[in-house]
Amino acid sequence: MVEFALPKNSKITEGKTWNAPEGKGDWREFRVYRWSPDDDANPRMDIYHLDLNACGPMVLHALIKIKDEIDPTLTFRRSCREGICGSCSMNIGGGNTLACTFGMDEIKGPVKIYPLPHMDVIKDLVPDMTNFYAQYASIEPWLQTTTPEPEKEWPQSHEEREKLDGLYECIMCACCSTSCPSYWWNSDRYLGPAALLQAYRWVIDSRDEATGKRLDDLEDPFRLYRCHTIMNCAKACPKGLNPAKAIAELKKKMVARRF
Ligand code: SF4
Ligand code: SF4
Ligand code: FES
Repeated sequence: MVEFALPKNSKITEGKTWNAPEGKGDWREFRVYRWSPDDDANPRMDIYHLDLNACGPMVLHALIKIKDEIDPTLTFRRSCREGICGSCSMNIGGGNTLACTFGMDEIKGPVKIYPLPHMDVIKDLVPDMTNFYAQYASIEPWLQTTTPEPEKEWPQSHEEREKLDGLYECIMCACCSTSCPSYWWNSDRYLGPAALLQAYRWVIDSRDEATGKRLDDLEDPFRLYRCHTIMNCAKACPKGLNPAKAIAELKKKMVARRF
């Protein structure tokens, strides 16, 4: 009989309970994934309690309060706390989202917080985004032109500019890619919904003159065509974007240019 062994450090163990609720208050429990490369231990789920009367409403408020007042070793990324930088993406209550815009009242019971799934973990809630950013760089996310630079700016009509709506708002948080089953299994070769949405953003930009080359670069059984329209990406996006639609539009462009 075939026996499967779990990879090293894949079993999550029970962790430490840091502080018990005390006195009157609106107490909420937070179960947070902890793992450090500095010891040889398996990951664990630590438990913290916060009085919500003394805490802001978002999950990021809770994490900052835990780090400031209970456990300074808790590690996570954040910067803007406005849903703009994409740094605080993590898995909260079973879904990928931004800790700074996700309200604790959006879920019931203990707030369970994990790093984004199917990425290597650097520490606690911090995933390794190296491959994700390399894939983004590979689609060359900048304006490419061959005509001489205009004196002022590259002109764009109102209608042409509107085509970028639903695309330019992407903050590269990776909530979509890390919720995509195709990306889980083929992230070494499939670009994933975030990078593909960005690729479409440049393909559809009326000012860009590298459309043919951009589409050539995507003509590959894995880079683009591993999307099977499962739509997890659109469900996960905290900015309300639809990467699956952008991918479908790219595929349409691939077909259209053959005729
Ligand atoms: S629609 Fe495509 S990109 Fe989005 S989750 Fe499904 S397979 Fe992944
Ligand atoms: S499409 Fe949405 S979920 Fe995906 S990286 Fe952009 S903002 Fe994040
Ligand atoms: S801290 Fe910037 S998006 Fe959450």
